[in-house]
Amino acid sequence: MLNRFMIFVACLALGFGACSKPQEQTKSEIAQPKRTLDTAYYLERGDDLVSSAKQTISTALVGAMEKGGVKYAATFCNVAAYPIVDSLSTAHRATIRRVSDKPRNPKDAMDEEESKVFSFFKEKLKQPNAELMPIVMQTNDSTVSYYSPIKISMPTCLKCHGEVGKDVKTEDYAILKTLYPDDKAIGYKQGDLRGMFSIRFSRAHEAH
Ligand code: HEC
Repeated sequence: MLNRFMIFVACLALGFGACSKPQEQTKSEIAQPKRTLDTAYYLERGDDLVSSAKQTISTALVGAMEKGGVKYAATFCNVAAYPIVDSLSTAHRATIRRVSDKPRNPKDAMDEEESKVFSFFKEKLKQPNAELMPIVMQTNDSTVSYYSPIKISMPTCLKCHGEVGKDVKTEDYAILKTLYPDDKAIGYKQGDLRGMFSIRFSRAHEAH
């Protein structure tokens, strides 16, 4: 009796609404557990993943540009290129993508929810001194999404995403166009909103 009471109290203390009264759950409660969204938990994990991914990409990208210019560095601006990002997302039971309204890789186009969040970020950025913060929301019963804006943060970005003939050398753009015939990711300026990280967490194992 004492043990069951202690488990019950521990569950409450940890905020596991769904695991209170473990022995007495009915079938319908098991099928549709009522869980509140722990925003802080997902924000922390999203921030963690994004900062690792950003750091990994920009360090490798800048290094590759110095080594061999756009031609050599073109494959470095891609989250999928880094095993470290991959293993981190597996550890967090998440998938990580970068999406844009003007994608270079057609795979980075946005779905409906991503487009809505991106429009929100874009509107927000029009306000003076706007600071864009990551957003966490529930996409469906089993998925929580985390969105974090990506800006053109350094002059290096413009060498492949700026104005062709000015920031992007014409001969470099010819190479990018061969790799990405449907490219839309040019014409940006420093500070522009380029896209966002889109992370989807699975709630299936939510027992933190
Ligand atoms: C050497 C050229 C190069 C540089 C420099 C570069 N990018 Fe890219 N960028 C690319 C390529 C190529 C892709 C497509 C990658 C892929 O296939 O997923 C891309 C894709 C992206 C995407 C994903 C959306 C899309 O358009 O497909 C974002 C976001 C992005 N870049 C942001 C940046 C930012 C921010 C910087 C500066 C820190 C930067 N890029 C610097 C070449 C570059």
